[in-house]
Amino acid sequence: LNYLTPKSRQEVLDLLVTGLKRLEYRGYDSTGVAIDSPDNKNIVMVKRTGKVKVLEEAIQENFSGGEYSEPVLTHVGIAHTRWATHGVPCERNSHPHRSDDGNGFVVVHNGIITNYNDVKTFLAKRGYNFESDTDTEVFAKLVHHLWKTHPTYSFRELVEQAILQVEGAFAIAVKSKYFPGECVASRRSSPLLVGIKTKTRLATDHIPILYGKDTDSGKPQVLPRSESTSEFMPLEEKEVEYFFASDASAVIEHTNRVIYLEDDDVAAVRDGTLSIHRLKKSLDDPHAREITTLKMEIQQIMKGNYDYFMQKEIFEQPDSVVNTMRGRVRFDGNAIVLGGIKDYIPEIKRCRRLMLIGCGTSYHSAVATRQLLEELTELPVMVELASDFLDRNTPIFRDDVCFFISQSGETADTLMALRYCKQRGALIVGITNTVGSSICRESHCGVHINAGPEIGVASTKAYTSQFISLVMFALVMSEDRLSLQQRRLEILQALSKLADQIRAVLQLDSKVQELAKDLYQHKSLLIMGRGYNFATCLEGALKVKELTYMHSEGIMAGELKHGPLALVDDSMPVLMIVLRDPVYVKCMNALQQVTSRKGCPIIICEEGDEETKAFSSRHLEIPRTVDCLQGILTVIPMQLLSYHIAVLRGCDVDCPRNLAKSVTVE
Ligand code: G6P
Repeated sequence: LNYLTPKSRQEVLDLLVTGLKRLEYRGYDSTGVAIDSPDNKNIVMVKRTGKVKVLEEAIQENFSGGEYSEPVLTHVGIAHTRWATHGVPCERNSHPHRSDDGNGFVVVHNGIITNYNDVKTFLAKRGYNFESDTDTEVFAKLVHHLWKTHPTYSFRELVEQAILQVEGAFAIAVKSKYFPGECVASRRSSPLLVGIKTKTRLATDHIPILYGKDTDSGKPQVLPRSESTSEFMPLEEKEVEYFFASDASAVIEHTNRVIYLEDDDVAAVRDGTLSIHRLKKSLDDPHAREITTLKMEIQQIMKGNYDYFMQKEIFEQPDSVVNTMRGRVRFDGNAIVLGGIKDYIPEIKRCRRLMLIGCGTSYHSAVATRQLLEELTELPVMVELASDFLDRNTPIFRDDVCFFISQSGETADTLMALRYCKQRGALIVGITNTVGSSICRESHCGVHINAGPEIGVASTKAYTSQFISLVMFALVMSEDRLSLQQRRLEILQALSKLADQIRAVLQLDSKVQELAKDLYQHKSLLIMGRGYNFATCLEGALKVKELTYMHSEGIMAGELKHGPLALVDDSMPVLMIVLRDPVYVKCMNALQQVTSRKGCPIIICEEGDEETKAFSSRHLEIPRTVDCLQGILTVIPMQLLSYHIAVLRGCDVDCPRNLAKSVTVE
């Protein structure tokens, strides 16, 4: 919305398209945008199947010059890039969706409206026709229906009434030709923030939450002073632009001042004023929402000289692991402080068990560190996939400590599992990369992994930083165990060398590229290892699957003889991790079992390990580190390998088909 300087519709469209490009990693099946027509009487929409680039070209063709270049003082535009849940990716199913009165109300939506069939039946009986297969469309039509039946309602009240009728998860933004210059947005379980750009410094750090019904004048009622909302100033800047977005990367080039909305907040912009409203006030509800200053820099979400974000993020790891440890690990005094959980450590030490819960790559970071956590905490450690954990209605006790690991902090399965455990009284620890995310806010305490924004859909640097965060936690838990001091020292020393060793592993890039040339035309890749490196097998196979669409499987080498060995012959590509650690001899057994079935594995081994190297002509040598950190050094060749295979196969590295970075639906 623009009150700052007049902008043409063309500029508004540019701004929306740039915002979509920043959010493209969240979904890229189809895109769309809605703005006011030049006569301000209608809303025009453009939608395209495919990525934002296609939409951008369509906009350039249809909306340049003429009336579209004339400046306007205020304008509302909405836009969306989709990851299909209901209905195939096509123009008809792409957002914005509309009411059937010539775009009277248009809506963009993330999430799933689970009762959309009931709402649809209700509306169909009242004569509404539907043009898409989506759940979202019912929302636009529902708002229209409410507008027809409640003509005195303000725009905000209409949306508020509509969200009372829908179930499921959503972040929505609504625009209407009947309420020009206004925009209403709300969320439940899906992330949504408001960016605020002003010419001068904002006079307030909070904006009040308004409760209850509107007065007759259509203005929301501010609670009386006794209820203390009035200690905060409402935001009534005259020169201001507001941005509603599902994450900060879309707004950071405009402003670093944001408000993270909470579930069922309804935010409305009208006459340049932003209000945040809730229908009911309960006892512990706050009086205001804080305006947060983001630390993110625009360069962090740009590709720089790299071809892909994923490639950039792989090569950032020497720095990102240091950032994870910065201010926390003191190598000289062998001390570790995790500020976000330090007050809870005594409680954690008394717990019944540790639960580590996540999805995808984040789950693998839990698998990778479980053994060390068991060793250094001497507690039972359960590692769970969030979806399966919920399916099983897993028993949870008040004295359990549950870790929720999530790069985005928004993954719906993980968030639902968090709420499940919180309800049962467990202590909730969030391990996320996104300050202000839902998991961050709903945790009792946590560790921010500080890896910096991760844009490539396939997670890389977040994994190594999650890994290190959990290692640091294990070290904190064992601080006062005398018998473990030698072990702790060994790990701390290894941590201090890690960044340089990652740099050394990254030097293998061209060698990995050569191996990729051997592999990229194959259908399958088996990745085998055990002990501390089993997680690398799972994570490596996941990277190969998501990026290259090849079949790949991470195999626990101990299970080889119980089935997977049947897959091995002279044509099946196999990669084996064989390092000089406590499971070396067992890994060598597996290696021999593979080679004696004519398998010719690629081996990841330790630098200078001639004995192991002798088993194959293709190997990658990595520097020696302590056993529990090997997984960091072994996963990097796997990240590089999947990257190079994907490039050779012509796959879109940053946007693998059918996937999205932040999956905010269950
Ligand atoms: C999606 C992504 C994965 C990611 C997983 C968990 O499936 O494609 O790369 O590992 O979600 O995401 P989170 O943000 O919770 O770590």
